Amino acid sequence: MKFIAGFLFSVLTSYCLAQSNVSIIPKPLSLQMETGFYVINAKSTIGIDINNKALQQAAKFLSAAIQQVSGIGLKLTSNNSSAIQLVFSNTVKEVEGYELGIHSTGIIIKAKTKAGLIYGIQSLLQTLPQIRTNASIQVPCMQVIDYPRFKWRGMHLDVSRHFFGPEVIKEYINLMAAYKMNVFHWHLVDDQGWRIEIKKYPALTNIGAWRVDQTNKVWGDRPQAKPNETPTYGGFYTQAQLKEIVAYAQSLNITIVPEIEMPGHAAAAIASYPELSCTQKPQLPLTGGNYTNVSSNYCAGNDQVISFLQDILTEVMAIFPAEYLHIGGDEVDKAAWKICAKCQAKMKQEGLKDENELQSYFIKKIEKFLVAHHKKMIGWDEILEGGLAPEASVMSWRGEAGGIEAAKMKHSVVMTPGSPCYFDNYQAGPEGEPLAIGGFNTLKKVYDYEPIPKELNSQEAAFVLGAQGNLWTEFISTTEQLEYMVLPRMLALSEVLWTPSNNKNFTDFNNRLQYHFRGFEQKGLHYCAGNFSVAINPISSNGKLNVSLSSEILNAQIHYTIDGSEPTNQSPLFSQPIAISSSAQLRAVTTLNNQVMSKQSAKQDFVMHQAIGTAVNYTTPYSKYYPADGSNTLTDGVRGTFTIGKNWHGFSEKILIATIDLGSAKLVKTIALGCLQKYRDWIFLPQSVNFEASTDGLNFTAISTVKNPIDINAKEIMHAFEAVFAPTNIRFIRVTATNNLCPSGHPGAGKPAWIFADELIVK
Ligand code: ACM
Ligand code: ZN
Repeated sequence: MKFIAGFLFSVLTSYCLAQSNVSIIPKPLSLQMETGFYVINAKSTIGIDINNKALQQAAKFLSAAIQQVSGIGLKLTSNNSSAIQLVFSNTVKEVEGYELGIHSTGIIIKAKTKAGLIYGIQSLLQTLPQIRTNASIQVPCMQVIDYPRFKWRGMHLDVSRHFFGPEVIKEYINLMAAYKMNVFHWHLVDDQGWRIEIKKYPALTNIGAWRVDQTNKVWGDRPQAKPNETPTYGGFYTQAQLKEIVAYAQSLNITIVPEIEMPGHAAAAIASYPELSCTQKPQLPLTGGNYTNVSSNYCAGNDQVISFLQDILTEVMAIFPAEYLHIGGDEVDKAAWKICAKCQAKMKQEGLKDENELQSYFIKKIEKFLVAHHKKMIGWDEILEGGLAPEASVMSWRGEAGGIEAAKMKHSVVMTPGSPCYFDNYQAGPEGEPLAIGGFNTLKKVYDYEPIPKELNSQEAAFVLGAQGNLWTEFISTTEQLEYMVLPRMLALSEVLWTPSNNKNFTDFNNRLQYHFRGFEQKGLHYCAGNFSVAINPISSNGKLNVSLSSEILNAQIHYTIDGSEPTNQSPLFSQPIAISSSAQLRAVTTLNNQVMSKQSAKQDFVMHQAIGTAVNYTTPYSKYYPADGSNTLTDGVRGTFTIGKNWHGFSEKILIATIDLGSAKLVKTIALGCLQKYRDWIFLPQSVNFEASTDGLNFTAISTVKNPIDINAKEIMHAFEAVFAPTNIRFIRVTATNNLCPSGHPGAGKPAWIFADELIVK
């Protein structure tokens, strides 16, 4: 009975597949469905030029994958009339391109290169049922012509903060390959563990790969190791294992770019060889995020460090044949260099004016070495500081600014801005989600990413090689969680990088994604079913406030309340923008099939006041990274929360000057500007806020200047700067907030801080 039920089910699934469009991700450039099927059965063979090694490898890969789905083992033949044919053909012009033809008489995949052939096979595999059939498979007829938009389609993995063994790495590579990602950026070393065997320096793995196990504590709360404790957490890859993984990745057209961090994030290396730091004091590998009294930089004034790193890179280059080698370069706290005799002597000797130039000097030396060995160097965007090395490529992570700057200088760039490319950030919730480092990069946010910034013209844009999803693992300690953070966001990124932007559509992607979800379930892979939080989007204009609600979930409905009560599936159903006419709390939930799916309702407070819906004119614009709800954010009635990406206009390192026109003179007795302080993010309350009024928009008179009453070292606080005065007729209001400097003891001490403002409340 069981067998018959399974058989019927498989017939049904192939039938359904044939009825609908296929669900290939990333979406091919061109896909024409045709009538009919090709049936893969025990008689089907795969025809190749049997003497060609690449074709043999590709055919074996295809045959193994088909066997997994159907149980049918297809034979490889050199027969031109075989039903499934893999051929190299110069008629395919694009290097990574392929053509896939599925006809009732057979299947043919044509490509110019092995890469293209592999991609054609991956697309074919995505036309097969996700449920194992143990029977012949009907594949719907179609014609696909396809090639990628970008050539760097990257995924990164940090194996220092948590170690993942070779089998997990291969699974990661398999997942990448299934979605046509082609660069695996392997973050092999960092403060909390050195993970690559270096024959000349065995202590790097004997000592540097092992730390005292504090996995049961949250990253930032882990105490440092004490000398009498035994390090038990860790691991590393032998060179033989690495070579095997490189070859495995190559067979799936994935290039591995290894990262050897320098001159910072080197605490594990320094634990192994303390003479490499400025202080030369012994230390232990870090257990987590506690850096107190630890050296995490190499001494940049010590020539022995350069030869040590060159020795390491020599071994690394012998393992990884990739064109690129990543040298890190991020987050170097240069305080140790300022008080190191060797570093200061080196600066004097080389005529370097500050520690940024010392870092640049160091990186340039390394680049020269790599170039002499026919490698290209890539580093995080901090390598721009103090002067970019002549041929360096830049990985832009602190937003896109570094990438833009480098592309304008005609240097190659890989875009991986924290928002939305950091897949260690939350993708849903955060309530109900596994603890993450912070942030909020939903599937839709990733899907909507455009790797070419508007600031670049077409010649400059050509320097953007592509983009990459980064997976830092401070908060990811299991394979289950690793899968969960990658799936399905990597699929969204793969479509960003492969498919022309005018061919993308989130709803269509979301529809195709359902097929892949079934596949993840079948394979036991953990994935995030989606962000069930309702997005609340105020639309403020012409003196009116309307609110639109949206959910990223396919076929979801939204129910809401505006009296502060918890919504249920019986609450009003959202269908068109909701008019808000008095102060209110709106709450909303996503429902699917009449079930509330949100772990918590989305909430938003609205305050009604006299400036609602008025246009805001800024003297200098707000940061493009903090647009909140658009240009009228200060007058939309929406108060901010501690989530900085929402509801706040951010002003980087400058004064905020905003003017509004109430349309006609109105009796006003208080004006307030809501501001945020978030110490960790360099956001500080303004030093003071000055309020002025006018009846003609030209001549302003002072109302008052309100000084900041809050402690500059307060970690996070929201504060409204308020002017209270005798009722006055006012039409125009000008508000000037003067930014603070980051206080002493802060990483940005003495540098101008950000201002964040949410609302200009006029009553
Ligand atoms: C980074 O996230 N520190 C590159
Ligand atoms: Zn030094």
